[in-house]
Amino acid sequence: MGKDFGIIVLISGRGSNLKSLIDRRESFSILATLSNKPEAPGLEYAQAAGIPIRSFDRRDYPSLPDMKAALLEAAQESKPSLVVLAGFMQIIEPDFLNAFPNKIVNIHPSLLPAYPGIDTHARALAAGEKRHGCSVHLVDAGVDTGTLIAQASCDCLPDDDEASLAARVLKLEHNLFPWVINAIAKEDIILSSGRPRYSVVAKAEAKAQNFTIFP
Ligand code: GRF
Repeated sequence: MGKDFGIIVLISGRGSNLKSLIDRRESFSILATLSNKPEAPGLEYAQAAGIPIRSFDRRDYPSLPDMKAALLEAAQESKPSLVVLAGFMQIIEPDFLNAFPNKIVNIHPSLLPAYPGIDTHARALAAGEKRHGCSVHLVDAGVDTGTLIAQASCDCLPDDDEASLAARVLKLEHNLFPWVINAIAKEDIILSSGRPRYSVVAKAEAKAQNFTIFP
């Protein structure tokens, strides 16, 4: 296993995407899991895997900027090759972005640019979408606006409700996200210019798994 590529994962809650990364880390290691919610259930997945966790409770700091400064300091201490947001529900500030240029990725439960923000599944159903899915993208200063790296999609079925569609998309997330992170670690996806570049291998793997990429 090529473990020289170390990532940190930032979470706020359930942590099922963190778990998929733990279970399917092949070409990367997880240096630490950071959370802005000490009670985030997902931290248990990291603990069970022996991955260091750090949580930052707003109540322990005089202000939100102080708390965010502590989080940034902890992120920098890990010297990650990539910062991975997996259900991290806090705005990433410019100083954090500047500390990790083209090195922060996020997973979002919609086919961006459609449905940034919250309640993506309900909004997709209400709009009568035929297809829905998830996106992995570079993080920029906007909300879910960064450059797209890869997407996975599924049909919306006639009897879908929000829960059934969310469950189907979450399964897609658990396949897409580890694939993207392993591919970045192997340099099959290169992000350094701010526009993803894909190797022949990445293109073939994406095609085989019905992932959409953005060459
Ligand atoms: C996922 O749907 C992810 O796409 C979004 O937040 C949710 C996090 O779920 N950003 P989990 O905590 O990984 O289970």
